[in-house]
Amino acid sequence: MAIQYYQNLSDDVKGIFKLDTPNTSYVIGVVDEEKFLGHIYYGQRLNDYHLAHVLRIQEGPFVPSKNNRDRVSFLDSFPMEYPAGGLGDYRESCIGIETKGGNMGLALNYVSHKIIPGKPELCGLPSSFGKEDACNSLEILCEDPHTGFRAALLYTVFEDVDMITRSVRLINDGKEELFVTKVFSSCLDMDNHDFEAISLHGSWARERHIQKVPVSHGKLSIESIRGESSHQDHPFMALASKGTDQEHGEVYAMHFVYSGNFKVSAQSDQFDQIRMVMGIHPEGFKWKLMPGEEFQAPEVVMTYSSEGLGRMTRSFHDFYRNHLIRGEYKDKKRPILINNWEATYFEFDTDKLIAIAKQASELGIEMLVMDDGWFGNRCDDNRALGDWTVNEEKLRGGLKYLVDEVNKLGMKFGIWFEPEMISPDSDLCRAHPDWAIAIPGKEGSLCRNQYVLDLTRREVLDHTYESVAKILRSANIEYVKWDMNRQLSDIGSAFLPPEQMGELYHRYVLAVYELQRRMMEEFPYLLLENCSGGGARFDPGMLYYSPQIWCSDDTDAIERLIIQEGTAMIYPLSTIGAHVSDCPNHTVGRTTPFKTRGHVALAGTFGYELDVTKIPEEDREMIPEQVAMYHKYNDLVREGDYYRLASYHENHFYDCYGVVSKDQKEALYTFVQVLNRPNHHSRRIYFKGLDPDKRYRIEGEEEVYSGDVLMKAGYLIRNMWGDYKSRLIHLMEA
Ligand code: DGJ
Repeated sequence: MAIQYYQNLSDDVKGIFKLDTPNTSYVIGVVDEEKFLGHIYYGQRLNDYHLAHVLRIQEGPFVPSKNNRDRVSFLDSFPMEYPAGGLGDYRESCIGIETKGGNMGLALNYVSHKIIPGKPELCGLPSSFGKEDACNSLEILCEDPHTGFRAALLYTVFEDVDMITRSVRLINDGKEELFVTKVFSSCLDMDNHDFEAISLHGSWARERHIQKVPVSHGKLSIESIRGESSHQDHPFMALASKGTDQEHGEVYAMHFVYSGNFKVSAQSDQFDQIRMVMGIHPEGFKWKLMPGEEFQAPEVVMTYSSEGLGRMTRSFHDFYRNHLIRGEYKDKKRPILINNWEATYFEFDTDKLIAIAKQASELGIEMLVMDDGWFGNRCDDNRALGDWTVNEEKLRGGLKYLVDEVNKLGMKFGIWFEPEMISPDSDLCRAHPDWAIAIPGKEGSLCRNQYVLDLTRREVLDHTYESVAKILRSANIEYVKWDMNRQLSDIGSAFLPPEQMGELYHRYVLAVYELQRRMMEEFPYLLLENCSGGGARFDPGMLYYSPQIWCSDDTDAIERLIIQEGTAMIYPLSTIGAHVSDCPNHTVGRTTPFKTRGHVALAGTFGYELDVTKIPEEDREMIPEQVAMYHKYNDLVREGDYYRLASYHENHFYDCYGVVSKDQKEALYTFVQVLNRPNHHSRRIYFKGLDPDKRYRIEGEEEVYSGDVLMKAGYLIRNMWGDYKSRLIHLMEA
């Protein structure tokens, strides 16, 4: 049984919950007469539950029933499982409320619990899932005796992977309305292990660069108040003990299954304890809860690794592949697509698209994706968002004609939408000027000359859904790229009453989830790729609806090494939208070999984003080879275990990573020599993830090597002439 409860262990310790995953244990205590919930342990799996001594409740300050004189000292030092603020715990709290009388202090202590086979769904929210024999859940009900306010803490432990998920349901069981001003989903109170915080930082075209900083006294927080998870920061943090690398060190990581405002922080306190919390960002958040009403907070996914970052990465990959990603394409190879954005931008028509499709189909490409510019008066990015009717001046003969022609070439057809937006210059805005998010009576701030639709209004949401669905019903469309090209601002709604304006950010995210849920229910065969001005909404929330997400608008192979390294630190390669594009690269102006562009895109979904009728002949000739490469390796790339061997981001010269099949019979490593080094003959790399007892043949070589030797003594990669060169090394069991 993965969840156990042990009762009445001592005068002070009323109960202990022990949650076990294959290699980790998580322990919570119910302490003292008031039944405080204390966090006792998270780490390597334990074979016993007698560990309440580490709570320090025998040291001063003693528990309140023995020393109420120093109650505040107790509250401010006790490792809380779900800390509430306002009564004497001065560290970052997880929950804030404001009662009708304006009071804010809160204590959430244990009332009861239940252990549930499987995992309940979270109403209206994306969340991980597992069958009854694959996971167990624990719900701990806590209550503030003063207000009757309750919180149900939900934990799920999985049998097959070292993951624990957490979420919180708030219940107003009192007699009066109140406001929730803050709700985080997860907290870890631990002793400091001299941690470094690892996070993913970025910007447009520079998403998810790995950042490591020491955690010192004070608070370090990573957050977004942009209405989406954002290019700039990512809803992820890992605390890693000093010296952690891919194989060694302790890592505690949290990742948020949510696509809106978030905050994750690590605070080192006066006693060198550390508190890590994660949840919806409290800024701009205020949720009215009437008596009897509930609020469901989103889920946090947590993992602990005692074997460095590599183990953490592989746990996330397995977990997302098996317990979050859904649908038709969950475990399937994706069609190789060609997208016309970098090929044509807004300058295209039916003939141009058919010419691209024709040439592409001859080279083995399997799907044409028509990007931005096919609807309304959308001749550039200044207008027409919201007018989801086909522009027949561009698409002569209509959409169905184009799709049929593409299908006749043996290709699938995909289409781009940006459903959440409205351009001031659009028929939609002229008809409904109050449908945009804006402070009533004040002109909103433009971004890319567009506003965000107020999807919290039912009529706006329904209209938006119907506009998209109508197009999807009109032709054989098998893929959708769902874009979002600006972040939220001017938070206000012509629909929400003033006391609920603080609900807009979260209601907006729920509305996006509802739209995508409806779309996937009506069109379950669709391959959905989420996107947000590149990778600004690459998060586990969106992954629940789409098995792949466009990773970045920066398609330069070298920039992508850094972006994809950060992304792959958490996300399976099968989720990372990656294309071969034309050079000089449209974002950075760099020219890289076509071969290298293919190798780098292979560590993602793989596709093309170029005018295949115009690229140099020698590049075009390489496409059938790359198509064959994709078909040969994609099962391995999608399903294998990922290992990071070297990081160009760290060493500034070369990058190396690999995927190894679960049975360790096959492996594929990619080596990119970013900068050639004069007077340098070869680099020795040490493969990872192989079976030391197996013997492997490297494709193209006669010699057979032992896995042990390849991992311990390494393998030499000969220097390649020139910069930006790459090589695949394919190993098969001999
Ligand atoms: C941003 C996306 O990331 C691009 O790929 C492209 O679809 C443009 N939007 C279109 O406006």
